[in-house]
Amino acid sequence: MKNTLSKHTTDVGRTMIGTIRVDVLAYTAGKDVELDARLVDADCIGSAAHVTMLAGLPLRPRIFSARAGARIVAELVRIMHRARRGAFTITLQDQDVHLAVERELTRRLGELGRKIHTGRSRNDQVAVDLRLFAKEQLLATIEEALALGAELLIQARRNRGVPMVGRTHLQPAMPSSVGLWASAYTEDLLDDIRLLKGAYDLNDQCPLGSAAGYGVPLPLDRQQVSDLLGFRRPIHNVLHAGNSRGKLESVILSALSQVMITLSRLAEDLMLFTMPEFGYFGLPPDMCTGSSIMPQKNNPDVLELVRARASRVMACAQAVMDIVKGLPSGYNRDLQETKEPFMLGLTMTRASLRIMAPLVAGLKINREALRRGFIPAVFATDHALSLVARGMPFRDAYHYVKKHLEELEGLDPAKAIALKTHVGATAGLDFAGMARQLTAERNFVSAEKRRFFKAISRLLRVPYPEEMQNAE
Ligand code: ARG
Repeated sequence: MKNTLSKHTTDVGRTMIGTIRVDVLAYTAGKDVELDARLVDADCIGSAAHVTMLAGLPLRPRIFSARAGARIVAELVRIMHRARRGAFTITLQDQDVHLAVERELTRRLGELGRKIHTGRSRNDQVAVDLRLFAKEQLLATIEEALALGAELLIQARRNRGVPMVGRTHLQPAMPSSVGLWASAYTEDLLDDIRLLKGAYDLNDQCPLGSAAGYGVPLPLDRQQVSDLLGFRRPIHNVLHAGNSRGKLESVILSALSQVMITLSRLAEDLMLFTMPEFGYFGLPPDMCTGSSIMPQKNNPDVLELVRARASRVMACAQAVMDIVKGLPSGYNRDLQETKEPFMLGLTMTRASLRIMAPLVAGLKINREALRRGFIPAVFATDHALSLVARGMPFRDAYHYVKKHLEELEGLDPAKAIALKTHVGATAGLDFAGMARQLTAERNFVSAEKRRFFKAISRLLRVPYPEEMQNAE
C-alpha cells in the first residue's frame, strides 16, 4: 500500500508543466490560485497605470503608442468584467493572478500583451495589488466600525438615564448607567479607527516601479504611476518598497486586532449581562441559536464566535510578524504566505463588525433587572463623598461608611447617576461630541473614496466602481 502511494506521488511529480514539475508548481503556488481571485481588480488597475505610464515614456522606439496603451487598458477592463461573471480563472499553470492576466492579454492582443511586463516584476506587482486591495478594505472596515459605533451611541443616548451597576473585578462598585457603558464602546471604536487610519496612511504609498526591488534602467515615471492610482506618494527607496511587504500587512492586522479586542470585550459583557441570572439586557431572539437537544435554549453563539475570532485575527497578525521578522532584505517567497492571514484577518474583522451592529441595535434593556442589581453597598463611595462635601476628611468618611453600611439602604440610583456631572461621567457625557467625531470619520471615508474612485475611473476610462464594485 505504502509503495503504491509513493509511486503514485512520484508519477504525479514527474508530470511537467513547461520545465517545472507539477508538484513543485502546486507546492509553490500554494493558495495563490484561489486567493488571487480577490486581486483581479487590483492587478488590472495596477497594470493599467503601468501601461499608461510606459506609453508616455520618451523612448525611441516607443514601448507603446498612446493608442496601444488605451487598447490594453480597455482589455484590462474587459478582464475585470469577465472575472465578475466568473469567466476568468487562475490556473496552476498561471501560478498567480499576475501571470493569468498577462496570459489573457497576450491571448487577446498578441505582441502588445507580451510587452506589458516591461520594467516591472511580480514583486512590485503583488505589492501594489495588495495595497490597492487593502485601501478599499480599510475604508470599508472603518465604515463598518462607524456603523457599530453609531448603534452603540444610539443605545447610549436612549438609555442615558437608565442606572446600571458599575463593576470592578466584576464586583458591584459604583452607580453607573447604560449610557456610560454603551458609549464607552463607541469611544473604544473611535480609538481603533485612529489606528486603522494610521495603517491606511502607511498603506497609501505606491511601490510600483521598484520592480524586483532594485529599480530598472528605464526612465520610469513613478510619480505619475502613483498619481494615476490615487496614492498619496510613491515609496521612495525601491528596496524599501519591497521590504515593506508583510510588515505593512502586520500593521494593518495589528489595527484589526485592536478592533477585535474591542468587539470581544463587548461580546463578553453582553454574554454576561444577558445571562438569566443578570438579565440586564436581552439579545434579539433572531440572533440567538438553539440547541439540538434542549428545547428551551437561546444561545449567544454570535458573541462566542466574535470572542474566538478575535483570537484568530490576533493569530493572523502574529503569523505575519513571525514570517517577516527573520527575512533578509529583498524579495523572498516566504512573503507569499502572508497573503492568507492578511485576507482572513480582514474578512473576519469586517464580518464581526457587521454582525455586531444589528445585535447592538436589537438589544432589549431591562430596567427592572438593572435596578435590582443595585445592592446598597454600590452607594458606599458616593455616600462617603457626600460626607466629604460636609467637611469630613475622605479617609475618615471612608471608615465611617465602612462601619455604617446600613445607612446606604434606600438610596436612589437615578439620583446617584445624575450627581456625576464632570466631563465623561454619567451626567457629563458629550453625546453630541461623540456624534460629531463619528461624522468627521464618515466624512474622511467619503472624501478618500471619492478621491480614489475618481483617479481609478479616469485611469480606466469607465466609472469605477459603479460597474465593478468588489463584492464583499
Ligand atoms: N505570488 C507571489 C507572491 O505572492 C508573487 C511574486 C512572485 N515573485 C517571485 N519572485 N517568485 O509573493
